[in-house]
Amino acid sequence: MVRYVLAAAVLKAFSINGHTRRLYRALGNRFGQRRRRRAGIDCYVERARFLDELCVRHGAIRDGGRVLEIGTGWVHWYSLYLRVFHRVTMTMVDVWDNRQLAAMKAMFADLKEHPAAGFDQDGEAAAIVESISSVGSFEELYDVLDLDYVIDGSGTLRDLASESFDTVFSFHVLEHVREQDTDEMIANMHRILRPGGCLIHQIGIDDHLSHYDRARESPKSYLRYSDGVWRTFFQNDVQYFNRLQMSDWLRAFRAHGFELVEHRAGSCSIDSLRIARKYDGYSKEDLACTTLTIVCRKVA
Ligand SMILES: C[S@@+](CC[C@H](N)C(=O)[O-])C[C@H]1O[C@@H](n2cnc3c(N)ncnc32)[C@H](O)[C@@H]1O
Repeated sequence: MVRYVLAAAVLKAFSINGHTRRLYRALGNRFGQRRRRRAGIDCYVERARFLDELCVRHGAIRDGGRVLEIGTGWVHWYSLYLRVFHRVTMTMVDVWDNRQLAAMKAMFADLKEHPAAGFDQDGEAAAIVESISSVGSFEELYDVLDLDYVIDGSGTLRDLASESFDTVFSFHVLEHVREQDTDEMIANMHRILRPGGCLIHQIGIDDHLSHYDRARESPKSYLRYSDGVWRTFFQNDVQYFNRLQMSDWLRAFRAHGFELVEHRAGSCSIDSLRIARKYDGYSKEDLACTTLTIVCRKVA
């Protein structure tokens, strides 16, 4: 509890104004880079293979197709991983520029040696990985691999052209979208997909503050708090995450005209938690969900 509260207090302090938020980002980029290097790429490879498997199984990826990644982050990991195996045109969008060239090159250098990488060392995929791990700049990378990087400060995709993508995906991003923006964003996902196009998202529904004390905190600790308590003591701007639950997401995608093709939920026990009245209308299975993966289709 102490580490959880302390982390919330520090993140709230960093959220005070534009200067503190910029300081947080500068520090986050610097130390985050080191932390990610230490953590290795196993989890990234596992998630990217899962994404690739979903894309292939649902026909979401084809030669010449146009794919959008929302919240591409510091190393464009998922877009680049898909580009290694498929001749697609990628657009990668984020709300701010947090790219880290050295980290990206190092991670793809590690991918070359990774036992689960799954490519022929002399084939085209290996050549692409080699080129990613040796580029001199992001601009060179985008040229070589036909990629587009877009900063959309609105965070709602409002400037992207209608029916311009075959597939839209994100990994661990939608929980960071302001709750009040999610409707507009999902409406825009629907607008920018071509009819029959595919949507794939993995959403972390767990309490991200619990990452600071995994040994003691439940992955769903935030269920203890009312909106008022949450906003006053725990919610912050620099590591914002909404508290939408699995059923909220499924309802929102359906409400915007998507057909739900598949969903998978990772979960934890919530038996020891005293749950706030705010969550009275949710089932136990819903509240226990920690990670939601969904595949939807825009009805043709
Ligand atoms: C936890 S990081 C995940 C990055 C990347 N998907 C990965 O897994 O390596 C979340 C990313 O989503 C971005 N993000 C947050 N809200 C967004 C929004 N409304 N639109 C686009 N990107 C957003 C953040 O800037 C950050 O780069």
